[in-house]
Amino acid sequence: MTDLAERGPRIFESNAREDRQEGMDFLEKRGYKRTMRDQVSELVVADFDPAPFGWTTDRMTEIGVEMRTVPELEADGVDWKRELWELEHELMQDVPTDDPVTQQPFERWVEWLTHPGFIPEAYFIAIKDDRFVGVTSLWQSLAEKDKLHTALTGVVRSMRRKGMATALKVRAIELARDRGSRVIRTDNEEKNPMYDLNVRLGFKPVPAWWTYRKELKNPNGDTPTPRGTRHIQHAVARREAGSGRVQVRGRQSRPGVHARAVRR
Ligand SMILES: CC(C)(COP(=O)(O)OP(=O)(O)OC[C@H]1O[C@@H](n2cnc3c(N)ncnc32)[C@H](O)[C@@H]1OP(=O)(O)O)[C@@H](O)C(=O)NCCC(=O)NCCS
Repeated sequence: MTDLAERGPRIFESNAREDRQEGMDFLEKRGYKRTMRDQVSELVVADFDPAPFGWTTDRMTEIGVEMRTVPELEADGVDWKRELWELEHELMQDVPTDDPVTQQPFERWVEWLTHPGFIPEAYFIAIKDDRFVGVTSLWQSLAEKDKLHTALTGVVRSMRRKGMATALKVRAIELARDRGSRVIRTDNEEKNPMYDLNVRLGFKPVPAWWTYRKELKNPNGDTPTPRGTRHIQHAVARREAGSGRVQVRGRQSRPGVHARAVRR
């Protein structure tokens, strides 16, 4: 925490699961306020009924959209990384967050592709007229071998409400089934239409996570100057470091990987 304090944070952020009262009490006693509720949901893959979604394949053909996986793009020699990085940043602008989203440097984004949970064939990209227009991906849970996490699902604004997100998710669920995965987990800000879309696919809610934030104030209640910030940070960091539960709000962890999906 002392090292992080040197970076001059003004906000601490943490998360607590809504069915774990102690965690919420811990943060609330220390002045943290709730800012966002992420509804977590899970699909038991064997329970998925593809029949109501049979229309998605024809619909994508009708609108001229093709779904490709990373290995398919590589086999065709497509330079997919930079365009996917750009697409995910564009989509992240519309994902509810507490802070404006800044673009992660390309080199750091690429590092995520070496994460042990990365599954190239579970990265589905929707393409229209050679342009990337939508994405979803599944990542292997490292803790549970039969579980997959969903990362960012999104569609460019001009192509929304055409069934593309549904089509992408159906493809991903079918892949999970073919891999023998038991369950897919995802989480969405509770009012994001993505949550209802997931419910229609058969995802069932499990306990949600609250985001909590605490702004550091100086004794006058003002936002501290950089110098004061550092001073107060040290005090706060020393007091709270022992809990191991407090995070300092840093840079965006990754456009695209639903950071929480990987983190939790
Ligand atoms: C959420 C998102 C992925 C939906 O993509 P999409 O391709 O438009 O979704 P679909 O066309 O498959 O929608 C299926 C159904 O979901 C519902 N739905 C989708 N978007 C909706 C919206 N903005 N408002 C209300 N309902 C919506 C509708 O019932 C829709 O069916 P309909 O168009 O026949 O009424 C898209 O809005 C998006 O990219 N948002 C920004 C990124 C994001 O927040 N992703 C989720 C977090 S990971």
